[in-house]
Amino acid sequence: MVGSAWRQPYLAELTFGEMFRLVNSHVSGHKLRILEVGCGRGYLSLELARRGHDLLGIDVNGETIKIAKQTMNTDPYSLERGRLEYQVSDFDAWNGADRKFDLVIFNRSLHHIPHHIRRILEQGSWFKSDKKLSGNLGVSVAQIKEEWQASGRKQHLNRFKQMYGPLRTLFEEKHLSWEPYIFWDIITDMRIPSTDTEMAFARCLMAMEKALIERGAINPVLFCFSGENAQN
Ligand SMILES: C[S@@+](CC[C@H](N)C(=O)[O-])C[C@H]1O[C@@H](n2cnc3c(N)ncnc32)[C@H](O)[C@@H]1O
Repeated sequence: MVGSAWRQPYLAELTFGEMFRLVNSHVSGHKLRILEVGCGRGYLSLELARRGHDLLGIDVNGETIKIAKQTMNTDPYSLERGRLEYQVSDFDAWNGADRKFDLVIFNRSLHHIPHHIRRILEQGSWFKSDKKLSGNLGVSVAQIKEEWQASGRKQHLNRFKQMYGPLRTLFEEKHLSWEPYIFWDIITDMRIPSTDTEMAFARCLMAMEKALIERGAINPVLFCFSGENAQN
C-alpha cells in the first residue's frame, strides 16, 4: 500500500477505480468465464467475481498472488461472488490452455511505461526519488526519457505496434481507445503533505493528461483494446 496509489482512497479511486470501470464497461454478459493474465494483486479479478463472473487470475509473481489470495480469503462478499481462483504462472509457459474462457483480460500487463511531470514535483520536494534530475530542462527531460527507455529495454517491453498487429490479426476489433496513464506513475511517488492538495493535484494531473491526449499533444501510452475471437 505504502508505495502505491492504494495508500489513499482518492488516489485508488482515480487509478484502479477508473481502470475497473473502463474494463467493466467492455464486459458484457452474465456469469462469464474470465481469465485475467498478469492479475497482480487481483483487485480487478475480485471486482469482476463480485459482479458474478467466474475468474481465474494468473501472475508470474508469487508475492502478488499471495496478496491476491489474502484479499480473496477475507472478502466480506465471498458468499455472493462468482468463483475466484489465483495461480502463480508465467503466461508464456502456462499449461491451462485446455480450459475454456469467454473472455481474456490483460490489464496493464501487455506493457508498462513510466514517468514525466516528476521533474516539477521533485523541484517542490514532492517526489521521493534517489536520483535527482538536472536543473536544466532539456537535460532533465533527456534524463527521464533515457531512464524509461533503459527500463523498457531491460524488461523487453512490447511496443504498441508489436501488440496491436497481433491483436488485430487474432481478434475482430470492437473498441480501441487511449487512456491516461502517465499520471499513475507520478502519483505513486509524489509526496504532498496535505491530503487536500494531493487529491486536487492528482485530479489535475489526470485531467491534464486526458486533455493532452485528446488534443494529440502527447503520445499516449495506455490503450484499451477489446475484440472478439475472429473465428466466432
Ligand atoms: C503493471 S502490473 C499490473 C498488475 C494488475 N493487472 C494491475 O492492473 O494492477 C503487470 C503484471 O504483469 C505480470 N506479468 C508480467 N509478465 C508476466 C507473465 N509472463 N505471465 C504472467 N504475469 C506476468 C507482473 O508480474 C505484474 O504483476
